[in-house]
Amino acid sequence: MKDRIQHFLLDFVMAVQARKVYSAEHPQFIQHGHEAFQQLDGLLQESSPLIFGLIEGELAWENEVFIDLSRRIRSILSVLQDRGIERLVFRTGLKEAELILFISLLLEFQTKSQIDFSDHLKSRGVHHIEAGRLRAPVEAAAGFESEESSPPASESAVDRIMHLIQSLHTESTLDTLELLSRLKQFLQVYSGTRVEFLDLADVRQKDAVTYIHLLNVSILAMFFTSRLGYSTEDVRDIGTAALFHDIGKIHVDGEILSKSTRLEENEFFKIQHHTVLGAHRLLKHTQTLGILPVIIAYEHHLRYDRTGYPRLSFSVLPHPASHIVTICDVYDALAQRRSYKKDYSPKRIYEVMIAEKGRHFEPELIERFFQFLGVWPKGTIVSLTDGSVGIVREADDLDIFRPHVEIIAPEDKKGLIRLREAPPQLAVERALNPYAEGRDYLPFL
Ligand SMILES: [Fe+2]
Ligand SMILES: [Fe+2]
Repeated sequence: MKDRIQHFLLDFVMAVQARKVYSAEHPQFIQHGHEAFQQLDGLLQESSPLIFGLIEGELAWENEVFIDLSRRIRSILSVLQDRGIERLVFRTGLKEAELILFISLLLEFQTKSQIDFSDHLKSRGVHHIEAGRLRAPVEAAAGFESEESSPPASESAVDRIMHLIQSLHTESTLDTLELLSRLKQFLQVYSGTRVEFLDLADVRQKDAVTYIHLLNVSILAMFFTSRLGYSTEDVRDIGTAALFHDIGKIHVDGEILSKSTRLEENEFFKIQHHTVLGAHRLLKHTQTLGILPVIIAYEHHLRYDRTGYPRLSFSVLPHPASHIVTICDVYDALAQRRSYKKDYSPKRIYEVMIAEKGRHFEPELIERFFQFLGVWPKGTIVSLTDGSVGIVREADDLDIFRPHVEIIAPEDKKGLIRLREAPPQLAVERALNPYAEGRDYLPFL
């Protein structure tokens, strides 16, 4: 029975992970949900109810604690913990559609909601699953208060990053500068003490462009995953893994990496090999960093349509986190190209990337990426069709082309405009390059 319980838990984690990335109707999610249900249904025919408890951060069933599974089921543990759920009960009579709906409701449930989750489940027609606390309600309320208390004054860089990641869950915008400076502080602390972070210090010395790229991709990946609804812990894990995605480039000759002319076939092969070399190097650090950095280093150039590299003799569907990092990776590579190629506007980046929907990129994820980031990201200096100049302050989820813009010139037009609510003829015309014609407006950023 224990083996089959473990089997169910792993299937259940797969279904929850799939639902984080895909819609409720997506075949990937439906398939994983179906597999989890098959396992659970078999178990319930033998023993009902099936009760799981969360004890000191570990999942337990009867007197069995699944410590050896904890890394593989950690994502579901943090989903439950984030929502204050310490007890899960499954009863006979459960239908597949109920389990599938339960997963969606679980992920949608607001951590600080005043509604009791089990009542919420019943009101939505889920009658054979209960989810709640082990503690008495009075203690639970006291627990909430302590969570709300302000952070300690003497925060470490790591704590500050965690607070920033948490704030990404509640605020829709991305404070890139704050996150970047904290990430740098964090790396300074860690590269002096933890051997796995020394590799990043190596990259910084050897290749500043790659180092900045790693930081940017990590920040973008954290922003994207938090907006997708991943838990704080998942966001941190994917952000950390993204930091190392190109670590294999340490082994690639700098001259090849910076070559602006056409690459020879053997040079191209050496660059492609950074995926395998990176994964191999990160295998030494799985005790501290986990397995996700290995997977992402290996898979981040595998495309959604199964092309890309490393070339494999078998067909593999990349990990959802690899799909996420792939999008952030290409976005940053194109955005960096913009810094020296004046006409490479954010809109052009959008057009280039969206054309690869379903080929290079997972179709739903690429849509959602631009929905969260906007075609004209926060901080872009733009000129509008009426000749005014402004800074994009926020993306508009409902219209990715029409962000909120703060007009800074001319004087009489100063103020914040929500373009979606403005007359249709008023639109973003183009981005001003902050290294060229937009230089005068840099102090307003
Ligand atoms: Fe790469
Ligand atoms: Fe990269």
